[in-house]
Amino acid sequence: MSYPQLTLVRQTDGPIGKTVTSKEPTGAALLHKLRALFAELYGAVPAIYRAPGRVNLIGEHTDYNDGFVMPAALDLYTYVAVSPRPDRRLRVYSENMGETCDLDLDLIRPGRSGHWSDYVRGVAGVCETSGYRLHGADLAIMTEVPLGSGLSSSAALEVSTAWALLSNSQISADPTTVAQMCQKAEHVYAEMRCGIMDQFISCHGRAGHALMLDCRSLEFQLLPIPGHVRLMLCNSMVKHEHATSGYNTRRHECEEGFRALSQVLPGIRALRDVTMVELEKHADRLSPVIYKRVRHVVTENDRVKKAAGALETGDVAAFGRFMADSHHSLRDDYEVSTPEVDLMVELASGQKGVHGARMTGGGFGGCTINLVDAAHAEEVQQRLEQNYEARTGLKPTILICQASGGAGALAEI
Ligand code: GLA
Repeated sequence: MSYPQLTLVRQTDGPIGKTVTSKEPTGAALLHKLRALFAELYGAVPAIYRAPGRVNLIGEHTDYNDGFVMPAALDLYTYVAVSPRPDRRLRVYSENMGETCDLDLDLIRPGRSGHWSDYVRGVAGVCETSGYRLHGADLAIMTEVPLGSGLSSSAALEVSTAWALLSNSQISADPTTVAQMCQKAEHVYAEMRCGIMDQFISCHGRAGHALMLDCRSLEFQLLPIPGHVRLMLCNSMVKHEHATSGYNTRRHECEEGFRALSQVLPGIRALRDVTMVELEKHADRLSPVIYKRVRHVVTENDRVKKAAGALETGDVAAFGRFMADSHHSLRDDYEVSTPEVDLMVELASGQKGVHGARMTGGGFGGCTINLVDAAHAEEVQQRLEQNYEARTGLKPTILICQASGGAGALAEI
């Protein structure tokens, strides 16, 4: 297969794609800087690949239970510039980290070091063990995706790196295979037992659309987001750190719930197969905590399907109500929110022009997502910035984004 050739277009009319506090270059300016940097570092003209971060509109902590999710790719990308080397080395420079690392493709072994290069090493390692023999490469990486704020900067790094390394080796792999290899890299090299959502949307995102994914069959449906709606991402400025913060614990809790319920429901293959009626009937088999975790998963899957119906009919108000229910369930049953994130949701809810608000991503801090009318986006943003800072002393970063396309090669612009 050949990778889609994308031309970078950042819309600048209206509030779309406008960053508020970021002073970093974005879009064309970033690409210019990346090319210049590459020439300086390696004396070569690179090919450039990119992959987006994501926001999840609804369907949280359901992907690793074989359930349903509804993310959208963001117009915030990680870019990887690459040129071939004659040997089996990878020289990798990260502009955001200001560091270089040097890897030997023949010496890559699984395991986490905690360094950002785990993601690059992991993707290279999994490509190789999946039967894709890579060529050596010089790489330079730059990102617009805020790090550690729940917008999947790690998936964007993995997918853009995979795209660059495979293309540099003249290897074709379909986007779903790329997503699966990147997920495996995160499991085996970053030791974060993530589901498939982030890598999948980074590969398959479509401009103007959310993507409802069945995480068991990997079938998906693209759902148009009404043109007047903006994706507002509010960073609570409380850092999330999944691997150490309880993400893996939640996975264990789901597995425990599944094991207990499968004793009495032998037909189930995952929590996705459990109904509310069955859960209530067998609640006495679960501890109160595990019961709550399972209840979140069961109700959240149901909400995703209903929310998809609402989006299909353009009923953004109904969609917003499902978002609110999702947030409450994540806060009370799954217990992955924080007081700051709850406050950010509370401050947004009910404001004129806000259709829905909830935490997004794995939780334990990070961002909230608001669906906001374009006409009100800037005033909502200003009010949230002021009110949140007044209540917490934290200055939030608020981005107004649109749903964008997935990973690909960049045509010269
Ligand atoms: C993280 C993981 C995803 C998903 C979400 C929660 O983003 O990487 O796979 O589990 O948390 O919905």
